[in-house]
Amino acid sequence: MNSKKIPYKRTILACAHARAEGRVACGNPGRGGAELAAALKDGAKRLGLKGRVRVVKSGCLDLCELGPNVFVYPDGEWLAGACAADADEILKKAAS
Ligand code: FES
Repeated sequence: MNSKKIPYKRTILACAHARAEGRVACGNPGRGGAELAAALKDGAKRLGLKGRVRVVKSGCLDLCELGPNVFVYPDGEWLAGACAADADEILKKAAS
């Protein structure tokens, strides 16, 4: 194992987890988590953030009722109830 410094200024985890059994989840239809994750990934490309801000579509962050949820590292910021319309604001802050 080799220890290295993470090459990104920030890493954004965007929960897009979906559940078929009816329990609430960020990525369930109508919740907006999948759309938010896609908007963050597309926005990172459009804003030229490749190599600086890494967007990762994540599984469940165990805060489902308050989602869609986004975690921003290394800040330790949790954005609850985010939506696709928030993507550019999240990305611009992450890039600053
Ligand atoms: S499904 Fe997103 S936090 Fe659980």
